[in-house]
Amino acid sequence: SGTVPKQGPLAGRSALVTSGPTHEPIDPVRYIANRSSGKQGHAIAMALAALGARVTLVSGPTRLPDPDGVETIHVERAEEMMQACRDSLPVDVAVFAAAVADWRVISTPAAKIKKQDGAPPPALELAENPDILKTVSGLATDRPALVVGFAAETGDAVEKAVAKRKRKGCDWIVANDVSDGTGTFGGDENAVHLITDAGADAWPRSTKQDVARMLAQRIATYFESESD
Ligand code: CTP
Ligand code: CA
Repeated sequence: SGTVPKQGPLAGRSALVTSGPTHEPIDPVRYIANRSSGKQGHAIAMALAALGARVTLVSGPTRLPDPDGVETIHVERAEEMMQACRDSLPVDVAVFAAAVADWRVISTPAAKIKKQDGAPPPALELAENPDILKTVSGLATDRPALVVGFAAETGDAVEKAVAKRKRKGCDWIVANDVSDGTGTFGGDENAVHLITDAGADAWPRSTKQDVARMLAQRIATYFESESD
């Protein structure tokens, strides 16, 4: 429970993790979503908690149980995820593993949109969602000491992730090549590179749980060397 002091290399540290997809409503019964099981983000929240961190998990809709020993906040839309992340600051480290829908529907009627014989399908007008990773990376106050993003790419994953790290202003990016059959959405295995300012580090192909444990360990090492 939250009242028991935590032990481990991340004891006394706080972490924010996003996980899962976001659902952007079209009307009361329909939505636009990204494909994400939440397995990777939830595993990272658990791995950080296992090393002693106080973890807030902001999760979109998934089929996963709330992890033990983690404060889980449930959201649906990207704008809600953005607000929940803001509310959970300050933290020492933030890991953005959610597959946030890039766009939302501008106006959502209170009543279900009905099909009408012979009428054209409704046109959905979209607006860009807030970029949570970029926003938190650029905060003047309360920016976490370490901000970690994810990038699922098809082909040239490292090159694209290096560019994405610059664009987002985050410290690390976990790059996932989803074109070679591993790292597939909903699957249990990931082939990843960790992109830092020192370059790209290839990790052995492993389960999402192992990726989570390796990342949590790297985060612990980062804070250990920082407090030297
Ligand atoms: N991300 C976020 N908020 C968004 C979009 C993305 O926080 N609105 C985060 C994701 O959680 C991930 C990282 O940004 O950590 C990269 O997401 P990705 O979808 O790969 O990047 P985009 O900038 O949206 O680029 P694109 O989808 O065009 O590749
Ligand atoms: Ca995107």
